Amino acid sequence: MFLQKFPPMGVYETLFKFQDATGKYMGDPGTRPWAQGFPLTTQLPGGPELPSRVDFEPADLKYPAASGTDPLRAAIAAYYNHFYGSNITADNVAVFAGGRPGIFATLMFLRPDVRVLIEETEYTPYYDKLKLLGRAHTLIPSNPENQFRPGVADYEAAARARGEDAVLAIKSNPCNPTGVTWTGDALRAMVEFASGANRGAIFDEAYEFFHAAGPVSAMRYIKNIDETNIFVIGAATKGLQVPGMRTGWVVAAREHIEIFRNFSSIAMGGVARPSQIYVTKLLETARVTQARKAVVEFYNRQREAYREGLEQCGIELCTGDGGFYHWGRLPRGLTADEFNERLFRDQAAILPGPLCDMRRRGDKGPHANFIRFSFGPVKAESLRENLEIIRRAIGS
Ligand SMILES: Cc1ncc(COP(=O)(O)O)c(C=O)c1O
Repeated sequence: MFLQKFPPMGVYETLFKFQDATGKYMGDPGTRPWAQGFPLTTQLPGGPELPSRVDFEPADLKYPAASGTDPLRAAIAAYYNHFYGSNITADNVAVFAGGRPGIFATLMFLRPDVRVLIEETEYTPYYDKLKLLGRAHTLIPSNPENQFRPGVADYEAAARARGEDAVLAIKSNPCNPTGVTWTGDALRAMVEFASGANRGAIFDEAYEFFHAAGPVSAMRYIKNIDETNIFVIGAATKGLQVPGMRTGWVVAAREHIEIFRNFSSIAMGGVARPSQIYVTKLLETARVTQARKAVVEFYNRQREAYREGLEQCGIELCTGDGGFYHWGRLPRGLTADEFNERLFRDQAAILPGPLCDMRRRGDKGPHANFIRFSFGPVKAESLRENLEIIRRAIGS
């Protein structure tokens, strides 16, 4: 074999174990895909319809522009300017096939001397990306001791410890898996931190819509993105409910966007035009206003219903007020892997906490008894049944 081996990202590990145990693919009808990070792809109560077709012309069968079609880039810029008072243009936007390739490209082009700062408990594939790209990084404590709630002072301390080194923070906000969300003064302080000399940040806002008090973006606090090394990454994957459209974007300084355009011309060839046409429609102001509201309301109800239910099952939750996950510790020393073995009997599975450990210490680390329960793809009607399965698995 000429290729170097590389394992799939952690969520897939759970998918494969699930398949071995149940003979089914997680997400198939009858399964309970609580390990997975996709939203419902059906109309939410009070939300807009999800179009079931996309119209295009022969001209749309041509290659797309490398950094995204003009209408989509303009729609994304207008979206941030409208909702967060920013002053960006289409030149500050590069379109990718989802959020992950945008994150990967940013890390790939990062100057070799820039040190990455990353919280100890974060989105599983960050670990794989850093490993694959051989990026040295410093961990910011995020563990049971600080209740998975680091602050900007932790980033300041980590940057200070590096002396004059350039640093780039990568942060999911709301955080996957913990749901901890930086808003208001904390987010402003983090933007200020990342705007300083020799500083930068990736704000991964895949869960932008999913926050108890309404959608949240670092764009609100960035004064002039052209003068920063800040990358705000969004996607149509979660809030707009269309993971299958594979559309995400990076908002950054124009000179950074040019690099992404060059990258696309060499290695990606742009993103399918029908997807871009579809997502442009989803961003029409009236529609997206309705979508933001419906997502907040529906998922707030789900978050609170499962908060109460999971706590009653004996799970000690550390979840923040965002995202569509609950993050908590199983009782009586039960490990996440043991718990999953029990859930497989009911064709259910959670994401084991150790897969969110950016140091991958397995069951020896602080995440051994932690689980990430996803209520993203779960219908409201299945609450009682789901909790019953969890109660049984904890008790047995
Ligand atoms: C924190 C975070 N960032 C980005 C993404 C983007 O995913 P995609 O590449 O499917 O758009 C996800 C999806 O799971 C996520 O959880």
